[in-house]
Amino acid sequence: MKVRLIFVAGARPNFMKVAPLMAALHPDERFESILIHTGQHYDDSMSGTFFRELQIPNPQHHLNVGSGSHAQQTAEVMRRLEPVLIDEKPGGVVVVGDVNSTLAGALVAAKLEIPVIHAEAGLRSFDRSMPEEVNRIVTDAISDLLLVTEESGRANLLREGKDPDCIAVVGNLMVDSLRRSLPAALQSDVLHRLGILNSRFGLVTLHRPANVDDEKQLREIASALRLISEELPLYWAVHPRTRTHLEHAGINLGAKIHLLAPLGYLDFLHLQMKCSVVLTDSGGIQEESTVLGIPCLTLRDNTERPITVECGTNRIAGTSRDSILRAWQEDRESPKQGTIPPLWDGHAGERCREAIAKFFAAHMRLEEFSQA
Ligand code: UD1
Repeated sequence: MKVRLIFVAGARPNFMKVAPLMAALHPDERFESILIHTGQHYDDSMSGTFFRELQIPNPQHHLNVGSGSHAQQTAEVMRRLEPVLIDEKPGGVVVVGDVNSTLAGALVAAKLEIPVIHAEAGLRSFDRSMPEEVNRIVTDAISDLLLVTEESGRANLLREGKDPDCIAVVGNLMVDSLRRSLPAALQSDVLHRLGILNSRFGLVTLHRPANVDDEKQLREIASALRLISEELPLYWAVHPRTRTHLEHAGINLGAKIHLLAPLGYLDFLHLQMKCSVVLTDSGGIQEESTVLGIPCLTLRDNTERPITVECGTNRIAGTSRDSILRAWQEDRESPKQGTIPPLWDGHAGERCREAIAKFFAAHMRLEEFSQA
């Protein structure tokens, strides 16, 4: 008997994790995969492009939840997902990352007594003002199998009382996507389209509510970016929520910060490979820049991905003008070389598949789960 797995994905950073996981599980006779798109992200530039470029199969179900407050968005995913899970009767539900769709998917499944598998479990920023931190803690608390990207994740889960048998350090699915997509990303003509051939530049992304929703904070970061841009032109791929706040505040960024629409995966990877530095508050970009060996200044006071600082090219730059400029200066004086963290080798999907197979073999009668 095949195990029917439902994958829940909803927002941009989910797609590069779901792609290699589904690619590893799909050809395996032991599993049947069904994809649900919650619709948390819905613009083509935030969702459709990623499905095409990462060759993710079309979702069998689309919940079309759209935007809303955290409670509204989470509740809407739960309300619309529950009847689908009741109807599809999966053997397990797979959620990835830390977005509202992750939490909602895990909650619905756990309450229906369907085993929950969480990929990218155990990461902790220890900052509960971040909505993602709350999502991570709750999702992990109710998950049955925890697939972990770095050793800090295992340590955090053990400290929270998780059974060691439920935890598997499998490496990083985002890195699988990155490695698979490098040849196509190298072909991107984005530099040409932006007219930045043969010149050095920095790449910026910013979307955390704590950084962009508060005008004073946004102005603080923008003033540091403006000073940096006097030395190194900056290209800023602007998330829709950030664009709204930048326009509302009417912040003058000067002539050397170039605002771009959200970019596709391959174009963005190309820019990351070619830039001199990345300035970001994203989680995933801290990991990608470490793998690419590009210096990263994280515009936050903490990271849930400490391996990118310990082994990689990441520096925590803080969110004040002075701390960002200090980190920028430090990076220019002594750029971090960095090494690639253990198991970030492009084979996390296969390790996830084997951990999932082991989990079901242990939780089902042997005749129900053939070790094909
Ligand atoms: C979400 C995730 C965050 C992730 C980020 C990546 C949560 C709590 N946050 O934040 O962890 O790093 O995605 O982008 O789940 N919008 C559009 N088009 C879209 C989607 C959103 O215009 O396709 C606008 C809407 O105005 C919306 C706002 O962006 O209100 C924020 O979207 P939302 O999904 O609430 O959170 P993100 O900031 O994208």
